[in-house]
Amino acid sequence: MKRMLPVTELARDERFSRMRIEDAVFDPRNLAPSAQRNTLATTYENASDNARGLMHGIFVGEIQALEGAGRTCFDFDLGDGRDQAPFGLKLDMARQCWDEARHVEISVKLGEHMGSEIGEFAEQTLLYEAACNPDPVLRLTGVNRALEGLAIDVFKTMHDFGTVLSDPVLAFAEDWMLADEVTHVKMGSDWLRRLTAQDPQRQKEALDFQKAVDKLFSFGGFRGERDENPVHLARNFRRLAGFSEEEISELVDITAGAFQEAQAQQASRAAVATQG
Ligand SMILES: [Fe+2]
Ligand SMILES: [Fe+2]
Repeated sequence: MKRMLPVTELARDERFSRMRIEDAVFDPRNLAPSAQRNTLATTYENASDNARGLMHGIFVGEIQALEGAGRTCFDFDLGDGRDQAPFGLKLDMARQCWDEARHVEISVKLGEHMGSEIGEFAEQTLLYEAACNPDPVLRLTGVNRALEGLAIDVFKTMHDFGTVLSDPVLAFAEDWMLADEVTHVKMGSDWLRRLTAQDPQRQKEALDFQKAVDKLFSFGGFRGERDENPVHLARNFRRLAGFSEEEISELVDITAGAFQEAQAQQASRAAVATQG
């Protein structure tokens, strides 16, 4: 079997279609004034369709999380070098594969429960691409800390969505997956600190990669602290997952900065449209 499998070679059947992350994040519809609201608020007319789309995004994210954790078990020789992985880390990644496989099954059933079909929404593959980093610590910050940290925020949001709509199937299933994601993010936090304790440069590079991924997913106001942001930071769960208060504050700043950039981009596009 080949090491470092490129994203183009992921196994998908004909039901799946792929889109670029840039097209998802910079979708001009997200910049319209009508989009500057909480599109998952249960009072919003399209909230259930948006929740179905988000659930499908979770489903493909679970597949990629399984693939990424599996690759980290396989791609590296054992050891403590930058191109190696310690046995304990591989054991944690194997444990994560077990969880993610279960999450894929739960997500398929939740999608059906919500009225969706596999492939109804396009798949973007940033999670797997972050899991192709040649340094295992950057995989941990990009995937476990940034993207599975985002999963914590999203699952908490979906859990609350199910609770408000009196849907115990959605609320309980999200809660169970959320508990696992907290352990996955904690694994990322613990291994980051352990493997970079004597190497501040490696730690800096890993945290910079995490910030870049976090910013990408906060662009367009998807996640933030305001009422109009559909997904809010799940602070208590992040504390449980090994985020310090300083790191949580920093993430709040990153999300606010990304939202302001989106607002500025919206204003300049509106100005161009008016001139035209
Ligand atoms: Fe998961
Ligand atoms: Fe996970």
